[in-house]
Amino acid sequence: MAYEPRPWVGTIPEGTHRLCACGESANKPYCDGSHGRTGSARTPALFKAEADSQVAVCQCGRSGNAPLCDGSHQRA
Ligand code: FES
Repeated sequence: MAYEPRPWVGTIPEGTHRLCACGESANKPYCDGSHGRTGSARTPALFKAEADSQVAVCQCGRSGNAPLCDGSHQRA
């Protein structure tokens, strides 16, 4: 499993995107289809950006507000 202990922070362009929820994508924060190759039960999360948006995307797999970060990576 390739989860990371901190969120991906950056700009996501306007539009609807498939964000990686399995932790295995080589193109984070976007899904690259790796969940299918690994057999992960976690499939991509749809995220709609109404405009170009600065976001923090969960990379630890524990957010209660997935696909966005809620700070869960900071809690033990
Ligand atoms: S590659 Fe992770 S959800 Fe698709």
